[in-house]
Amino acid sequence: MYQRLSICTLLSVVLVFLPIKIHAQSDKEEPIKTVVNGALDFSVQQSLRMAHSLQNQPGLLPRTTDRFGTLQTCRSDWWASGFFPGMLWYLYEYSGNEELKKWAHEYSMRVEDQQFTTSSHDVGFIIYCSFGNGFRITHDTAYKKVIRTASHSLISRFRQSIGCIRSWDYAEWNKQWQYPVIIDNMMNLEMLMMAAKEFDEPSFFNAAVSHANVTMKNHFRTDYSSFHVVSYDTVTGLPELKQTAQGYNHGSAWARGQAWGLYGFTMMYRFTKDTTYLAQAKHIADFIIHHPRLPVDKIPYWDFDAPNIPDCYRDASAGSIICSALIELSQYVEKELANTYLSVAESQIRTLSSSQYRNAPGNNGNFILKHSVGNMPNTSEVDVPLIYADYYFVEALMRFKKLKGL
Ligand code: GLY
Repeated sequence: MYQRLSICTLLSVVLVFLPIKIHAQSDKEEPIKTVVNGALDFSVQQSLRMAHSLQNQPGLLPRTTDRFGTLQTCRSDWWASGFFPGMLWYLYEYSGNEELKKWAHEYSMRVEDQQFTTSSHDVGFIIYCSFGNGFRITHDTAYKKVIRTASHSLISRFRQSIGCIRSWDYAEWNKQWQYPVIIDNMMNLEMLMMAAKEFDEPSFFNAAVSHANVTMKNHFRTDYSSFHVVSYDTVTGLPELKQTAQGYNHGSAWARGQAWGLYGFTMMYRFTKDTTYLAQAKHIADFIIHHPRLPVDKIPYWDFDAPNIPDCYRDASAGSIICSALIELSQYVEKELANTYLSVAESQIRTLSSSQYRNAPGNNGNFILKHSVGNMPNTSEVDVPLIYADYYFVEALMRFKKLKGL
């Protein structure tokens, strides 16, 4: 009897504690070093597969997938064409793998013709991500020449009477706007700021600073969320309309737009040390990270004001951009705030590295991440991989690794 009791007691103790132990083990977080390096190793493998898959299709670059997971490509004139070469440069920097360097060069050359583009502001995105990273890593002077030409192309779109670089040229789909400037355009200033320094060219610096100042004045609401599009009256130089193109409505906070603003003003502070930009970036960060509709895993819905939250799509691209920007911003603020930013960024890295967001090896066109939203109002690129989500995720991983010495 005594023996039976003790076996029963032992069994019930085991049965009571076993689930707790299993639960505790599955809840135990992997060290962040393992997560970051694991995600970078996976990104190397996935990107090599992607580079091979397009090697015999000159002029094409990865963009997204269709809803069946088949790779969809773009040509160099699509705004996102520079992200794949840029990501290859980051992954070469991480791994030292010479094959990645070869692909990074080859895919950069696929967008080289865009240095002459004067018909869109996206020349900054395209050339800075590809040739800008290439130059940063290799110091190849041929890359530097491309950046100089591209910067001249970009400032040809600057109008002194407005103080901004025009985003889109007149077209049937945007004829309601006299002079549209979108918040995304803050990102193109990085190339100008880098080129201003590299070539000692004040016109690049002046255009970028003016654009940032006018954007700071006109794009933001009192809560530091931003409009997507501000159109300027070409006669008065003043805003005529404040609207959206890719957000839920004119008054909403389109998630990627908030991300571009955060990244853009953080970057402007890096180059100028103007504390007005730093304050702006901190306000935008506050809006994002304390937003009541930012999910606990820190990957935003595609618009902070989207209807049907929580039953609507997330945007991993906005999550990646915010993550990368917060890691940079953390280096410019007091310790307590830095820890807050880094804790959000770490959550984002963990979430995006999990199987919930990360593609299986060789799947989904060999993109790294799933679940991004390109243009919801157009119902295009909804809940799919997007090459810029991958680019900013890899950039965030590299920044986090460097900052933490992982
Ligand atoms: N610059 C275009 C976008 O963010 O979708």
